Amino acid sequence: MSRTIKIFDTTLRDGEQSPGCSMNLNEKIEVAKQLEALHVDIIEAGFAIASPGDAAAIAAIADTVKGSTICSLARSNEKDIDAAWNAIRHAESARIHTFIATSPVHMQYKLKMTPDQVIESVAHHVAYAKKYCSDVEFSAEDSTRSDLDFLCRVFETAIKAGATTLNIPDTVGYMVPDEYAARVRYIREHTPGIEDVVLSCHVHNDLGMAVAISLAGVQAGIDQIECTVNGIGERAGNASMEECVMAINTRKDVFGIDCNIDTKQIYRASRMIQTITGVSVAPTKPIVGANAFAHESGIHQHGVLANKQTYEIMTPESVGIPKNAIVLGKHSGRHAFEDRLRELGYSLDKEKLDKTFEKFKVLADKKKVIKDRDLEALVGAVPVSGMERYTLDRFVINAGNSITSTAVIRVKKGDEVFERVAASDGPINAAFRAINKIVDKEIELEDYSLNSVTDGEDAQAEAIVKLKIDGGNDVVTGRGVSVDVIEASIKAYINGINKYFID
Ligand code: KIV
Ligand code: ZN
Repeated sequence: MSRTIKIFDTTLRDGEQSPGCSMNLNEKIEVAKQLEALHVDIIEAGFAIASPGDAAAIAAIADTVKGSTICSLARSNEKDIDAAWNAIRHAESARIHTFIATSPVHMQYKLKMTPDQVIESVAHHVAYAKKYCSDVEFSAEDSTRSDLDFLCRVFETAIKAGATTLNIPDTVGYMVPDEYAARVRYIREHTPGIEDVVLSCHVHNDLGMAVAISLAGVQAGIDQIECTVNGIGERAGNASMEECVMAINTRKDVFGIDCNIDTKQIYRASRMIQTITGVSVAPTKPIVGANAFAHESGIHQHGVLANKQTYEIMTPESVGIPKNAIVLGKHSGRHAFEDRLRELGYSLDKEKLDKTFEKFKVLADKKKVIKDRDLEALVGAVPVSGMERYTLDRFVINAGNSITSTAVIRVKKGDEVFERVAASDGPINAAFRAINKIVDKEIELEDYSLNSVTDGEDAQAEAIVKLKIDGGNDVVTGRGVSVDVIEASIKAYINGINKYFID
């Protein structure tokens, strides 16, 4: 029987802590549910000590998700471990993940600790975590620039103190695949007790080899891959979950292993992360990029028409990319609409379904053909109930190439109505300025992007804004969709502001 590798997803921790990828509580819960639907073995739900908001999100996920182990990260100190345990204690299956750096540069300059002090800390804090939780993971941060014999001593200490998983992170993405595999083999051969624990890899993508290194690790005896959806994460990101999983599945002949992931949920997970973070994947991104299954050249198209296997090593259906066979339009009824959403993998509650259907009807009046991507965009544009402090009521824009643009914006806040006028060089900036006057906050526009959801002249526009509000350091992402680019932009701006007030 083949070995089953564990998938440890850190989208909500390593992914979420990377610039521009922050999520609010509702978004984190939504992502965690999707990770559960993917059958991820372990969800690293956050870093509890980082903030009360992080701790609350981990606790909410621990309460909600039942199919995966819920894990919180903790540095090698008691306060961190207390906070991690408090956040995950109600999970059906919980894990504390504690770490300390083991490379000379980290020990000397960051920790200001000697190697012996690091060993003492590992012994004490793994044992401390073990008092709370039987499932304890220990990571040697920057392990790939650490002395191998010292690393084996560290791991032996962690095993004796009760660690059940040992992680060998390539924190700075420094390895090449063969070199990493050789280190894994060395550690396996020189660490007493290692045969009784799970060995994990956690690889960053600084040299673009995170997936290859993780897979080389698996061939050398790694039992758990730490990865993220779309490969988001610190700097150049982490190993991409969809790439690791599809490599394992597509090349069973090479790897000879299985994993528990329901690959049909991959596309949805990828879209969800792109929608929530506003960070899109490149069209050429393996597995989930817009071109990953597109065959453009005549020779390729001819081959695929004759036999798909000529140019396809896996099918789009296997990762849940919808076939797009059915298109909806003005005359489509609620049944067809609900059926299509179900086929796309959505199970919305009644309130969200009603709101999405209302938006669908409005869109169907403006756009002849409604494609799956339009539906996905509509679902993503319906805010979670209770999240809308401000809603756009109406707007009037006056713009041209030889005049100053002006915007009149009217928004509702409960039963109150606010209207303001502002001017600027361009219509969108004028609209944003008018909204700033209404909410009476200092708002910095960190980033703004506009994309079409589908092709065609009547395509919907999707606007993404990244905002810093009231001098805070946190960036909120707002998203708006409309066939009108200005309306999409205004909605995105208001959506970002609403998220700020909810967080
Ligand atoms: O990259 C890293 O080393 C980490 C550890 C905390 C596992 O994220
Ligand atoms: Zn990391």
